[in-house]
Amino acid sequence: MAESPIQSLSMRSLSTEQKAALTSGADFWHTESCAPLGLPAIMLTDGPHGLRKQTGSTDMLGLGSSVPATCFPPAVGLGSSWDVDLIHRVGAALGAEASIEGVAVLLGPAINIKRSPLCGRNFEYISEDPLVAGTLGAAMVEGIQSRAVGACVKHFAANNQETDRMRVSADVDPRALHEIYLRAFEQVVRRAEPWMVMCSYNRINGVPASQDHWLLTDLLRGQWGFDRVVVSDWGAVSDRVASLSAGLDLEMPGTAGRTDAQILAALASGTLDEETLDSAAARVVTLLRRAAVGAGEVSGPLDVDAHHRLAREAAARSIVLLRNEVQRSETTGDEGALLPLRPDARIAVIGAFAEQPRYQGAGSSRINPTRLDTALAEIRALASGEVSYSPGFRLTPESVGPAEELRRDAAEAASQAEVAVVFLGLGDDAESEGFDRTGIDLSADQLALLDDVLAANPNTVVVLSNGAVVALPFADRVPAILEAWLGGQAGGGGVADVLFGRVNPSGRLTETIPKRLADSPAYLDFPGEHGHVRYGEGIFVGYRWYDARELEVAFPFGHGLSYTTFSYGQASAALDEDGNITVRLPVTNTGAVAGREVVQAYVSLPGSAVQRPPRELKGFVVVEAEPGQTVEAEMLIRREDLAYWDLRIDRWRVEAGTYRIDVAASSRDIRSSVEVVVPDGDAPIPLNWDSTLGELMAHPVAGPALAQAMAGALEGFAGAGDLMPAGAMAQMAGSLPLRALLTLGGDAVTPETLNQLIVLANGSPRK
Ligand code: BGC
Repeated sequence: MAESPIQSLSMRSLSTEQKAALTSGADFWHTESCAPLGLPAIMLTDGPHGLRKQTGSTDMLGLGSSVPATCFPPAVGLGSSWDVDLIHRVGAALGAEASIEGVAVLLGPAINIKRSPLCGRNFEYISEDPLVAGTLGAAMVEGIQSRAVGACVKHFAANNQETDRMRVSADVDPRALHEIYLRAFEQVVRRAEPWMVMCSYNRINGVPASQDHWLLTDLLRGQWGFDRVVVSDWGAVSDRVASLSAGLDLEMPGTAGRTDAQILAALASGTLDEETLDSAAARVVTLLRRAAVGAGEVSGPLDVDAHHRLAREAAARSIVLLRNEVQRSETTGDEGALLPLRPDARIAVIGAFAEQPRYQGAGSSRINPTRLDTALAEIRALASGEVSYSPGFRLTPESVGPAEELRRDAAEAASQAEVAVVFLGLGDDAESEGFDRTGIDLSADQLALLDDVLAANPNTVVVLSNGAVVALPFADRVPAILEAWLGGQAGGGGVADVLFGRVNPSGRLTETIPKRLADSPAYLDFPGEHGHVRYGEGIFVGYRWYDARELEVAFPFGHGLSYTTFSYGQASAALDEDGNITVRLPVTNTGAVAGREVVQAYVSLPGSAVQRPPRELKGFVVVEAEPGQTVEAEMLIRREDLAYWDLRIDRWRVEAGTYRIDVAASSRDIRSSVEVVVPDGDAPIPLNWDSTLGELMAHPVAGPALAQAMAGALEGFAGAGDLMPAGAMAQMAGSLPLRALLTLGGDAVTPETLNQLIVLANGSPRK
């Protein structure tokens, strides 16, 4: 970071000891103050979907108590809204709560990619897709920071599992690292300018993230221009001097001076230079200043009701209607979908989650909610007909009632009702920060309960409460399924709103629901062994994998139904002079109620020179329309988003060509396609003697020159003309490194010829 004159002046007024102290915490949640500059200490605290401000005992596992705060839906839910405006509003509410509580930085959002359905922390992460994670993560940062509170985007980087999380090395190749795992971070850092970035616990290709100079300095600061504070994940630093040298500014929690002494010793012995400490301390001072300016931006008391209402709105918008089959009523002969429910319907609510909601995940993000809705009470509040309740299964082993008896009671209740609403899901012990899941199945007693209920009453709706995908072997047998995720403290109200159609569902899957765990991309090497996890699926993460392998899935990425229907018109695409593409199309609400549609744009490049998934999400937008109304959906696909990471130059590169843009309602429901020709805007790849003949031929300047020079050489080489068809020979010749032509190409190729061509191509010689 280039220091301003004021900063360097103020840094000079600090002693080395003071600077060392500034770069580690004062305690578990606070930085040091900077008395000489009159700057108070600040509090940083979790995050991400609520404020976990501890006032007594401190911990990073969500064990100790914290002040009451609104528990919004965790990222798994919020992300499913795909809605930047909603997430911005939730972010602003989080910022307001932090500001009222005197918290300067909220530790979130968490934007790691959901690599495997098994990751214990998937509920805290947004998506399996970097564009969704990056776009929504940026909206969250902007929302939080709109209240003069900092956001801390985490966990940087490749922290995609909990098993061995403090040591494991994510062994990931450069394309996957850049295109999948770093891309969302880049987007958030560049577009939303978070106050802080938190480095992760794990290693990346053997190097601990907290000591990775390439990651924290060359890439984050050098290439992305981040000039703010990098903080460690809590306890991630094992070598403070190495971390500071790598670009980590602030160690958290503090170590009561133990590691500050290491800094001073390293300075004294010359293994650390003073400028490195100065830059880190200056960045912390800037953070303290920014916090001091923003402090008190929002004054209390917290409007608990207003935030609870927002949490309910967000919960309803998080719900994905996976299935809602049209059925024919045996009694009336009418045709219709099971949902939304009539308020006067006789309803059997079944399943312990209806009364004891699972609404957030376990670990450092666990919030002490200001209040807690249950679906049962909220359904009863909206219903005018009879609503019965049967728990159906045990939530915890100590709960009362043998399983079979509970199932019998539930089936009996279902048989007496017009419709059964069965709440199934995962318990706290099934998924959490700190460990990964070992499977994706619901418990056997829940599945048995569902069978019994279906036998008693086929008009059954399943409502799921889970932080990561579960297998849905019953999907074809249940007429309606709501994926309600973890809905936060007002999740019960959100479910009731959707069940009765007070809110028309508009959530979409940000992660594929596979048929079987064994189909999932990381299945063979998750969670790794002996301290290493190999990202063997490369760039084929999530739908990129399922689509490339043509695997059947339970529900595809991007899927979600509505109580209305939408038709898509023909898409058009316009390329502007900067190479950005605007995609437009008319979308019509063809049903009877107002609704929201998440329009998605997937891009592919048929005939690409590099390996690519069949399609990749590059744009999306939420549109709203009244019945019969047509609205225009517009999506901007930035040129940079078309880029792949080119190993030859270790940089992004946009391949020229005719791209296909599929406008779709999910990765498997393409409604309209359009082509757009993207011209070559990037400098050609420099050639050297190891480049192939094919690469040289494809070069815009050297290619034609070579064609002339090679005429003779190919003849000489083609003594084999009778043995091999011309096409095959051209292919074989195309893969020859240039240096091989000296021996194989006859007299026509000399070192001088090669050098001339390379100079022509590169503008300079390069062997
Ligand atoms: C988690 C972070 C969290 C921190 C502080 C760590 O264990 O990985 O996400 O912000 O603890 O609680």
